[in-house]
Amino acid sequence: MTPDQMIARIWTIRKANPGNLMARHFDEDYFRSLDEPARQRLERIIKTGIENPDSQMGAYAMNPDDYDRFAPMLDPMIRDFHGISAETEIAQKHDWDTGASPCDLGAIDARLKEVSMRVRVARNVGSFPLPGAMNKEQRVALEKLAAQAFARLIEDPAFGGSYFSITPGTANEIDAAEYDRRVKAHQMFKDMSTDRYLNVAGISADWPHGRGMYVSGAEDFLVWVGEEDHLRIMAMQHGGNLNVLFERLRIGLECLQDLLPAFATSPRYGNVTSCPTNLGAGMRASLHMRLPGLTSNGRDLTRLKREAKTLGLAVRGAGGEHSDAGEGGLVDISPSARLGVTEMEIMRRLYDGAAALWAMENA
Ligand code: ARG
Repeated sequence: MTPDQMIARIWTIRKANPGNLMARHFDEDYFRSLDEPARQRLERIIKTGIENPDSQMGAYAMNPDDYDRFAPMLDPMIRDFHGISAETEIAQKHDWDTGASPCDLGAIDARLKEVSMRVRVARNVGSFPLPGAMNKEQRVALEKLAAQAFARLIEDPAFGGSYFSITPGTANEIDAAEYDRRVKAHQMFKDMSTDRYLNVAGISADWPHGRGMYVSGAEDFLVWVGEEDHLRIMAMQHGGNLNVLFERLRIGLECLQDLLPAFATSPRYGNVTSCPTNLGAGMRASLHMRLPGLTSNGRDLTRLKREAKTLGLAVRGAGGEHSDAGEGGLVDISPSARLGVTEMEIMRRLYDGAAALWAMENA
């Protein structure tokens, strides 16, 4: 594709798919002002949005410095997605202090002790390219580094557990049946090689090499290796107490930080992630809860989505991105904001929002 053809395609997408933020913010003059190597780099970043016109974002960073290098193109997309005006300065702040706000849903209603809680953060090691630009050797080398860190966690009674690799021929390799079992248990990530957004970006390349998952002994602290980001570090628990969940993640994350080379960060965008939607805290906190009243027993999410939006929450089915509601109105709710909000603010928003939806459900 010549630059002229590419630009023409982007204009077509801009008309037909107004939601595609890459097409919405593509700046022809800026693109043409770049030298050839830079143009090629930018093309690779936005290719996913050109090949997938229905993209919401339509770009994945390939290297940790892309957000600074290509800021004239990426910053407006980031602001648009995260709802930050052009005049507002972006400076990601962090706050992991649970002390000030008790966030125990079980204290509101004992039935809320049943909810399944999950919080994950995305992290990328600064000395490697991001997953879209890694070669097979780099994927395997990164997995090796991570596995060494997990070996230390496994020795620690507070973590224990095991590392499961799906890289063919490695020491911790699990078979297909065990992999499927872990996917069904909502622990392991799905086969990325069927995701067209990730494919075009190169993020799912060399599948399943360099991929795996650490699970703690209590199965409440997990780390994905080689998915959309180098590492997806998460805590999952039942019980309704979001602060306990949050602390589990904080401590595990701190241990890993000490055991691994420095993670990529930016003063503006916080934690550097492949997808611009995850920048900032890089955190997704969610609850799986049953809201049969607000969803007509899981058949219709329209009303719930509308109510949730006013609370700053996004709703999806319990089966993950793009899924429908499960049996009995089982849905996944999660604060939408990532950039410009601290970790604790995200947690607080989830707690307040879940409490408000629960009150509506039972009104
Ligand atoms: N690349 C897709 C798009 O632009 C997904 C964006 C958000 N989801 C994600 N898993 N990063 O629509």
